[in-house]
Amino acid sequence: MEKYRICGGNRLSGAVDISGAKNAVVAILPAVILCDEPCVIENIPNISDVSTSLNILSAMGAKVRRIDRNTVEIDPRSVFTNEVDHALARTMRASYYFIGALLGKCGSARVPLPGGCWFGVRPIDLHLKGFRALGAQDLPLDQGVIELHADHLMGNSVYLDTVSVGATVNIMLAAVRARGMTIIENAAKEPHIVDLANFLNTMGADVRGAGTDVIKIRGVQHLHSATYSIIPDQIEAGTYMAMAVATHGDVLVRNVIPKHLESITAKLEEMGATIEEMDDAVRVRCSGPLHHCNVKTMPHPGFPTDMQPQIGVLLSLAEGTSVITEGIWENRFRYVDELRRMGAEVQVDGKTAVFQGVKELVGAPVEAVDLRAGAAMVIAGLAANGITEVDGIGYIERGYEDIVEKLTRLGADIRRIYVPEAQVRNA
Ligand code: UD1
Repeated sequence: MEKYRICGGNRLSGAVDISGAKNAVVAILPAVILCDEPCVIENIPNISDVSTSLNILSAMGAKVRRIDRNTVEIDPRSVFTNEVDHALARTMRASYYFIGALLGKCGSARVPLPGGCWFGVRPIDLHLKGFRALGAQDLPLDQGVIELHADHLMGNSVYLDTVSVGATVNIMLAAVRARGMTIIENAAKEPHIVDLANFLNTMGADVRGAGTDVIKIRGVQHLHSATYSIIPDQIEAGTYMAMAVATHGDVLVRNVIPKHLESITAKLEEMGATIEEMDDAVRVRCSGPLHHCNVKTMPHPGFPTDMQPQIGVLLSLAEGTSVITEGIWENRFRYVDELRRMGAEVQVDGKTAVFQGVKELVGAPVEAVDLRAGAAMVIAGLAANGITEVDGIGYIERGYEDIVEKLTRLGADIRRIYVPEAQVRNA
């Protein structure tokens, strides 16, 4: 077992390069199954959710060849099954994108219910509503496995009652090779939805409107080979921006699409940071005290829920009282208990958290309770006085490539330390 040991207080400075977007790549890798020829995917982040997706593809028979650390070639022609490995599927949320991809490819899928971060009930009723609208029938859950069959998928209109990233992706995947036109209304507009549409279109699909709330997909019969580069990760970029602010640093965050960061930039500026936008980079500086502000998470282009814990750490250090309202998930404040161990003063009531800013956080042993909560603990540790040890780093490494190395280059004092099994058992 490993932990991060952070000695807080170092001001971050220098430049950091942002990796490919986790939430885009975990949709694009299953989408390769739909292709009739091999594809090359570039700018793949080296994170465990990617290894899991690649292992799922290999276990299904696809030929996966690493060209270099961030480029992979996948030949889906040898896929021989419509089933996804149970143990692999359970370790990540996005394994359910194999349902849409397999349905689209072979008209049937057997995929275990997914795992991933827990921030409340994570239903998939809208995914199923979409698959049913396209003509698929689902069998009752058996051993936690979802099974769907369709004689022919037929395009149809689907209205999403709630804006859902996952349902939008899954319906797009199923519809790409269906007969006729599928229209997704009240679709999610996140950057990774646009990235998936761009990838599908590069293979010859006909997807229009991604990035708006109406996506139209005209089914095609054949998808050809493509080489595609994943967009930069909006949330990884936002996390490093928050780290720069938390340490009163001066960091150039490179390889980003500044437009994707607008809601994050606006909040950090409101808190007193200076942010300079360039073509594909943002420079984040902060010297004075942090100002309080209120944040409400919303679907894109609103403030992303996946940046909520990170901004929470900053608000715990801002002068005065700030309020965060979580607009997406019912239980995304579990990191607050950990933050309190470091001296933060936060009251949570349902989907609202009230932060009473404190002068400083103090180092403590804390746990990453999920991926972004884990990133928040790293930010807290960087800003805190003293030593912070972060447990549960497996969550963090599902989504942040080389986080220790990137932070070390920026001047942080962070190390991965090994904890012997016996010590863990006795803890
Ligand atoms: C994706 C992201 C996750 C992010 C979330 C919201 C991936 C792999 N994960 O998760 O990091 O936090 O978007 O931006 O891209 N809902 C339903 N029924 C459904 C599906 C969703 O009611 O069938 C509800 C959920 O309970 C939630 C809301 O819709 O309240 C948004 O969920 P959704 O956008 O689907 O999140 P994910 O795709 O799971």
